[in-house]
Amino acid sequence: MGKMQGKVILITGGSSGIGKATAKAFALEGAKVVIASRGEERGKDAVREIKAIGGEAFFVRTDVSQEDQVKNLVEMAVSEYGRVDFAFNNAGVEGQGARLAKETMEMWNAIMDINLKGVWLCMKYEIVQMLKQGGGVIINNSSSPGLGGAPRLTIYSASKHGVVGLTKGAALEYIADNIRINALCPGIIKTPMHDKRLSITPGLEKIMLSMIPMRKFGKPEEVAAAVMWMCSDDASYMTGSTILLGGGQAVSV
Ligand SMILES: NC(=O)c1ccc[n+]([C@@H]2O[C@H](COP(=O)([O-])OP(=O)(O)OC[C@H]3O[C@@H](n4cnc5c(N)ncnc54)[C@H](OP(=O)(O)O)[C@@H]3O)[C@@H](O)[C@H]2O)c1
Repeated sequence: MGKMQGKVILITGGSSGIGKATAKAFALEGAKVVIASRGEERGKDAVREIKAIGGEAFFVRTDVSQEDQVKNLVEMAVSEYGRVDFAFNNAGVEGQGARLAKETMEMWNAIMDINLKGVWLCMKYEIVQMLKQGGGVIINNSSSPGLGGAPRLTIYSASKHGVVGLTKGAALEYIADNIRINALCPGIIKTPMHDKRLSITPGLEKIMLSMIPMRKFGKPEEVAAAVMWMCSDDASYMTGSTILLGGGQAVSV
């Protein structure tokens, strides 16, 4: 029996990087996994990977910035698996790495719509379901730039600060309803998002490594392990908290 046997987790952005590693980790522990993302092919590939390791999962094509699609996602999860014990609101985008005055309205809207409005919409419909079923756990994926400034990622950083704010307020609003809500702030994790970032700016890898006291990037599996603990009863006294997972990054001065 896995430690998440019989549980249901909904993971946005579950088709890649951190989300996919988390989906696999939960599936290996016996959870039923609902994967949501925009790209159907990658989503279905992720489901195939999970089934190949003996897990159970299904994919719902969803753009988290669209309210009707998020509502549909939660409804599909409930109609397939009956409930949503855990939700990992992880879908996100980073932007182009421009300085603030060079940023555009399109970029502002795209980042805020997905990273901030998307997390709010997901929480809104997940909470409706969790209230019906008597509780649940929500983990929102912020980022180390959700705790401090990040040059050339300022809009992203603002969106991720917003995720921390949404987490704290919602945690207090639903504390008496048996719903725990926490945020995770990963540092620099080796995922397709990270690889894209390195391909845009030559020499960035060395600079980034020098910013991390452990001198190595995090692995998606290390983030998945934190999500697993945050969802488990071992974290039963934790709500409204923000966990930094950054190899010492953002702690050093
Ligand atoms: N990698 C890092 O260094 C790092 C550090 C801290 C925090 N994070 C955060 O961790 C999360 C995952 O990042 P990652 O590195 O794993 O990135 P990734 O490999 O690029 O994965 C991003 C996932 O989000 C999905 N997604 C993007 N926009 C979406 C939308 N509008 N609706 C639904 N799904 C959407 C993508 O699928 P589609 O494009 O097909 O929709 C994909 O599944 C993000 O929120 C990111 O900000 C990453």
